[in-house]
Amino acid sequence: SPSDPDLVERARAAKEKLGDKVFILGHHYQRDEVIEFADVTGDSFKLAKDAAAKPEAEYIVFCGVHFMAESADILTSDDQKVVLPDLAAGCSMADMATAEQVAECWDALTEAGIAGVTVPVSYMNSSADIKAFTGKHGGTICTSSNAKKALEWAFEQGEKVLFLPDQHLGRNTAVRDMGMSLDDCVVYNPHKPNGGLTAEQLRDAKMILWRGHCSVHGRFSVDSVNDVRARIPGVNVLVHPECKHEVVAAADYVGSTEYIIKALEAAPAGSKWAIGTELNLVRRLANRFAAEDKEVVFLDKTVCFCSTMNRIDLPHLVWTLESLAEGTLVNQIQVDKETESFAKLALERMLALP
Ligand code: 13P
Ligand code: SF4
Repeated sequence: SPSDPDLVERARAAKEKLGDKVFILGHHYQRDEVIEFADVTGDSFKLAKDAAAKPEAEYIVFCGVHFMAESADILTSDDQKVVLPDLAAGCSMADMATAEQVAECWDALTEAGIAGVTVPVSYMNSSADIKAFTGKHGGTICTSSNAKKALEWAFEQGEKVLFLPDQHLGRNTAVRDMGMSLDDCVVYNPHKPNGGLTAEQLRDAKMILWRGHCSVHGRFSVDSVNDVRARIPGVNVLVHPECKHEVVAAADYVGSTEYIIKALEAAPAGSKWAIGTELNLVRRLANRFAAEDKEVVFLDKTVCFCSTMNRIDLPHLVWTLESLAEGTLVNQIQVDKETESFAKLALERMLALP
């Protein structure tokens, strides 16, 4: 639906008043009405790098979710303030691993005698606490666009990987990109004593996958893939690696949001694509590529928006920009110094990956 013209005008005026003092980042899953005001858009990896691209900006308004804003705070200077337009924009996957649970898990690995040879690799979609744990124990962060490189690096440092918190990205990368088998992976359930695993199972595994997942991508199924292939002959199925392993195995291509956009840009006119990722992005791509005679459809019509990404809407953006323009700092995301120093170590290891 078209945006309220009054709000559009207010956002434009406030942004203009702030000028170089504000830098607006927008993740690909954001609403059109928000993306319109973003200075840069990207996947999680690109936005982590871009966050530090404008050191003269006093305010970084992060249109995305909480863990992204935390990462931006960690990667930017102390005088830059990172602002999340709605503090309730979290990520259910990131919430699936708490510092306490991960400390317990590390105790279980220590008990099994494998902590010394295990390297933690944590998905960007995790809290700053989990990133700090990762940094403290010699590990790295990864995103969906560099997970393979992160695992290659980790297996040079140790014999096993503890992958947090998305079991699907961990499993998909291990099996699809690293040639491991499903039997090399075990799932650690933080709600069970010892993760629901015996010490022997822990010792035998190469990949210890945290039992976390994305509730949006978790809804795509092999049936979604089969149905779209039956409906649209010749369709290319392209999914995000947060999808379940069997969905990824049934797809033609797999990649991050940035990869998905590049794949469609490179696709020939007349080609047909079914995309398995968040709806705001797929809708925007369907509109954009219709003009180039590329048909883009949603992989499964019953899957919908990421509800927390969607919390950032035009009214929240207007309120944020107007508050900042009046000199009132709102919704600042600030990671404490101790957490920041270890989390930064892990993020910098990611940024240094070849
Ligand atoms: P990317 O933008 O890195 O593909 O990640 C998708 C996602 O779920 C972010 O929350
Ligand atoms: Fe988190 Fe999934 Fe939403 Fe990404 S799409 S922010 S992983 S809930």
